[in-house]
Amino acid sequence: MALSAGRVLFTFALLSLCLLIINLWLMAGHEQPNPSALTQGSLETKLAGLSEEAIKQATAAHHLELELSQLKAAIKQGRAIKVTLAKPQFNQAISTVAKPAASTEEIVLPILVFACNRPEAIVQALDDLLKYRPSKEKFPLIVTRDCNHEATRLAVDKYKDVIHRHLVQPDSGEIPNLDKKEKKMQGYFKISRHYKWALGQIFDVMKYKAVIVMEDDLNIASDFYEYFAATYPLLKTDPTLYCVSAWNDNGKASQIEDNPELLYRSDFFPGLGWMMLDTLWDEYRDVWPRGFWDDWIRQEDQRHGRSCIRPEISRTHTFGEKGVSLGLFYKTHLKFIVLNEKPVEWTKMDLSYLKKEKYDESYTIAVYNSPIIPLSDLKKAAEEKTLSSVRITYDSKVTFKALAKQLNIMNDFKDGIPRTAYRGILPIVYNGLRVYLTPESEWKKYDPSWT
Ligand code: UD1
Ligand code: MN
Repeated sequence: MALSAGRVLFTFALLSLCLLIINLWLMAGHEQPNPSALTQGSLETKLAGLSEEAIKQATAAHHLELELSQLKAAIKQGRAIKVTLAKPQFNQAISTVAKPAASTEEIVLPILVFACNRPEAIVQALDDLLKYRPSKEKFPLIVTRDCNHEATRLAVDKYKDVIHRHLVQPDSGEIPNLDKKEKKMQGYFKISRHYKWALGQIFDVMKYKAVIVMEDDLNIASDFYEYFAATYPLLKTDPTLYCVSAWNDNGKASQIEDNPELLYRSDFFPGLGWMMLDTLWDEYRDVWPRGFWDDWIRQEDQRHGRSCIRPEISRTHTFGEKGVSLGLFYKTHLKFIVLNEKPVEWTKMDLSYLKKEKYDESYTIAVYNSPIIPLSDLKKAAEEKTLSSVRITYDSKVTFKALAKQLNIMNDFKDGIPRTAYRGILPIVYNGLRVYLTPESEWKKYDPSWT
């Protein structure tokens, strides 16, 4: 149901008031324990319960803050939006009973593979996806095809017994009303049209709760499925996340640590094998862009301060040299991003350290405790091997670009965010030494004028 901006605010205020009343009521309802009956053990249990509750309330508050900023943005843009206040995280946070995180078994995670006119590519992608798939029930494969390309249709048809669905985007006509400049970029508009339609099929027609988005020119690592199965509960329970990606934008062999278990939070949406929830589709459905969908997701208006999980060593690899962007970056960069070869049993690992509250403390402290050195000392520091990590600072767009060039990492920004950055921190490796590129003093916000 779409509501006007005024009614949205009114409903929001009313809901907040109800929540306050429910909370007060719950607090009043708690029996006061007999002090003499409190043993050391029961006090500790109670304390643990209370601190858990505090974290939940903080999460709920954060979620509310996010909702509010979304509402504000919508009002500013004068668009009608859907009220999505009754989100599971939110309900869970006001409940006094701790619910276990969603189990990795119960959720079905469809793999949506985008195809157009590259039959050899889709065959390679599907062969890989089938080779490592642990369960066809949990991970149904759905190919969605655009471009009305006969050879690609025949190629996908050969998989009809092993894939769940073969969808066809119905409108293969030209994109109307493009100006001269946009016409040259029409491919990006077609991709965006296809994405909108296919995500609508996944969430609005098939009613899945989440999706793993893939493209026809991606290979996968053998632990690709486990990685998404294990990170799904994180995505579901941490409202400060909006995606999980299999891709490290700076994942070249010489620039990563040989540690297949290493994961990060990233403010830069990596794409290229990534998972999203139906609740994100609720936000995007009506405002999906006409072109350049990935850069659009990277904008603050869509991100709302949220992050993605991404690995140190990519779980996807792109072989798509000939694509819509005509290999821009492919020869110089993309083809060097390595695919993980040491599988991790992700679902057996405790990934709760990636939740914002925990992560921001431990990670940021570790980073900012690393000694600052000038770039000119880096080679020496790496040779000496006395430091376990160092920090190199940047204070402007110009110093960042210069650093990136020297260190051979991606030097572009989207809405002011460098690729892989989390709160301005970029972790890389130089000659075996861990290096963090960070702002000079602790990060405050990204500057969208950095382009
Ligand atoms: C780049 C991105 C890609 C993103 C796209 C849109 C990289 C390496 N790739 O595309 O993730 O989706 O920009 O901004 O950064 N396709 C259609 N219809 C078309 C043309 C292509 O559905 O008319 C499909 C392709 O089958 C493919 C996907 O869209 O699965 C991306 O197309 P591709 O040609 O690979 O473009 P990139 O330059 O890689
Ligand atoms: Mn591509």
